[in-house]
Amino acid sequence: MKRNVKILATGGTIAGVANSATDTTNYAAGTLGIDKLIDAVPEIKNFANVGGEQICNIDSKDITEKIWLKLANRINELLADVDGIVITHGTDTLEETAYFLNLTVKSDKPVILTGAMRPATAISADGAMNLLNAVKVAANQNSVGKGVLVVMNDEIHAAREVTKIHTLNVAAFNSREFGLLGCVNNGVPEFYRTSTRKHTGNSEFSVNGLKALPYVKIIYGHACDDGLFVAAAINAGVKGIICAGMGNGSINANVEEILIRAAENIAVVRSSRCGGSIVANKNFVDGDNLTPQKARILLQLALTKTNDRYEVQRMFKQY
Ligand code: SIN
Repeated sequence: MKRNVKILATGGTIAGVANSATDTTNYAAGTLGIDKLIDAVPEIKNFANVGGEQICNIDSKDITEKIWLKLANRINELLADVDGIVITHGTDTLEETAYFLNLTVKSDKPVILTGAMRPATAISADGAMNLLNAVKVAANQNSVGKGVLVVMNDEIHAAREVTKIHTLNVAAFNSREFGLLGCVNNGVPEFYRTSTRKHTGNSEFSVNGLKALPYVKIIYGHACDDGLFVAAAINAGVKGIICAGMGNGSINANVEEILIRAAENIAVVRSSRCGGSIVANKNFVDGDNLTPQKARILLQLALTKTNDRYEVQRMFKQY
């Protein structure tokens, strides 16, 4: 029996339109509506009963917390009735939305994000195949309990680990030292690994009734840092700071001094701009091996539950 999959559209290049079929960079993301995306892949209906819904239609650089909350609440509502969800999304912040949903969706049913690197009007546009594959993964029993997944370019990635590593190539996503979870091999989804961190049905975080998220900024470490941005963030009243530190999370001595004082009142998390592996556990919460952009999301959700540094640290070791 065919499963019921709902496709929620948010925009991005998969819904992008250019003036010419050879133009893959000058185009308007978030232009086509969900019906056009589904109509472009009639084969989808051979694999699942699909319905579409437009959540927004934007370039994902403009994603907002309001959209995240709307999306998470809508998914939690829909999953009572459907077997799986696919979200079409711009690739620029796709990994952030995926991790936010990985922590806030309250179901083991498959939730899959996909997008495209080439606009729908381009020669060899990748969106149609990505959408078909995403629906196949959403309709696959083996996707249950795997957390939120990202399906791009025939690859299946875990929301926690996946990151965009290329600005143009269709092979734009990678799960760094962890590797992908599976592939769509000859059109058939197959899994080889699972992610061990807590997610979805086991997550302690909830967006139910939440109107906004705590204000958390990322400060990017660099040579010759004078601490200007850290001071500005603290003066602006942030509730938390993610340090995208150098190497093993190292922070310029002057900046670190400011942060040690700040950490008496706000949450400070050490992460790394390196893009791989863990960071030192010293003075601040250590962000484990999350990228700074994902550490920001976990800290925002952590701060909806606690201000206790040791509790926040526990969360960074579990999610
Ligand atoms: C976007 O993120 O909305 C634009 C870029 C893309 O989807 O590849």
